[in-house]
Amino acid sequence: MVSINCTDDNNSIYKLISRYSATNTCPMHMPGHKRNNRLLSDDLPYNIDISEISGFDDLHDPQGIIKQTSEIANTLYGSNKTFLLVNGSSCGILAGIRAAVKRGGKIIMDRNCHRSVYHAAELNGLQTVYLLPETDQQTGISGSISPLQVEQELANNPDAKLIVITSPTYEGVISDISKITAAAHQRDVTVLIDAAHGAHLGFSDYFPVNANNSGADLVVQSLHKTLPALTQCALAHINGSLIDPNKMAKELAIFETSSPSYVLLASIDSCLRLLKNNKDGLFKDIKNNIGCFDNAIKEVENIHIVCHGSDHLYNHPHFFGYDPGKIVISTRGTNLTGIKLAQIMRGQYKIELEMAAADYAIAITSICDSKENFERLADALNRIDQTVIPKYPIPNYKNTLPRQVMSISDALELNSIAVPLTDAIGMVALEYVWAYPPGIPLIVPGEIIDENIIEQINIFVSTGIMLKSTDGEISRQIAAISV
Ligand SMILES: Cc1ncc(COP(=O)(O)O)c(C=O)c1O
Repeated sequence: MVSINCTDDNNSIYKLISRYSATNTCPMHMPGHKRNNRLLSDDLPYNIDISEISGFDDLHDPQGIIKQTSEIANTLYGSNKTFLLVNGSSCGILAGIRAAVKRGGKIIMDRNCHRSVYHAAELNGLQTVYLLPETDQQTGISGSISPLQVEQELANNPDAKLIVITSPTYEGVISDISKITAAAHQRDVTVLIDAAHGAHLGFSDYFPVNANNSGADLVVQSLHKTLPALTQCALAHINGSLIDPNKMAKELAIFETSSPSYVLLASIDSCLRLLKNNKDGLFKDIKNNIGCFDNAIKEVENIHIVCHGSDHLYNHPHFFGYDPGKIVISTRGTNLTGIKLAQIMRGQYKIELEMAAADYAIAITSICDSKENFERLADALNRIDQTVIPKYPIPNYKNTLPRQVMSISDALELNSIAVPLTDAIGMVALEYVWAYPPGIPLIVPGEIIDENIIEQINIFVSTGIMLKSTDGEISRQIAAISV
């Protein structure tokens, strides 16, 4: 187990606020708790929750301690400039897309992008061109976006200004960012990588490279997802010259709070300092822990643990790379669902998984997982596997791209009515419908609902796969309008 070196911490944001807090300065300013929890019976960190007071810098124009932290991030990630984000990757994606493409412009995006990318398209009236990933046959989850697909869409859309790729995906699948970026840059097209799940990559050669080292112009990463940082802590890194840092700063001022939490800023700073001082040892430990986990689940045979245990990347021809920190447990072709697996994990083993869907569930690991956590997970998987009945039929669904007749924003401005699915064929969808897996919208506002979509929805519903729409769960009706 690595011993932590904290010698550099004396000027950390946490230490600076703690020292300030001890000065007993009278706080005639926000926040209203005044660092005094006399009226409150909880133990939340009021004592370090200051606002942008004198000496504590300005998130939207950093010159002091916040700038210092972003410089630590530059060095660590090898970026040109890094913005600290306290509203998650979502605000970095919204701001980044606006910084890269004008209102009404065209973007090429993977169809399984996070909803913040769709929201950016909606807010900015963007024309959207989709890259549909191939489906992994073993698990039903989405594969990588190939450089060839990107080249083809670049050739078909010479007016596209931006490519957005999710890598790693929620399920840990990585695309070939170097080649995708090279193809885009030949045409001066900017590349934004949604690496919300990839802030931990590249710190050891056991993990795939960080998107910042693959030529991407803008890389957005949630520290809180895979590294030790409080929820909402994230980074946006700019590389190269295609994104103007001043424009990015202006856009962040729109999408990010004007009252940033210093508890969150301190957490970002502490996380980066921890990595700066200890990354080698910490990533050696997690590599060892995952290695032991892989050995411990080698005999699991009914459920399928993607790229772990006896499974390998080469069994997944549509995956360019895979993040070994993700543990995707596929129950496909068995009597178990991902949701049931998560219930058993919770009820019998006191293990809470990250997410559960119809035929898979995800466990996220990090450098903060103890060896014991990995042992408990492996033990539970071995035991559950022995109770599972294999050889169940696999639903036969395929992803398609429906015909687009208007932009997402135009569609969402129309008044919608709920139409029974069977009557909706030929109408324009005015809401999203997502299915997990594969985590790709079946339909997006502005697209024509065709027979194939209805058939897919029926297959999902009949096999118990959860369909989500903008307003919640969907089963028999969809918001639509006649063309
Ligand atoms: C692929 C992907 N991108 C972006 C986000 C948004 O990240 P955040 O929650 O940090 O705003 C998420 C959140 O789950 C995500 O899965």
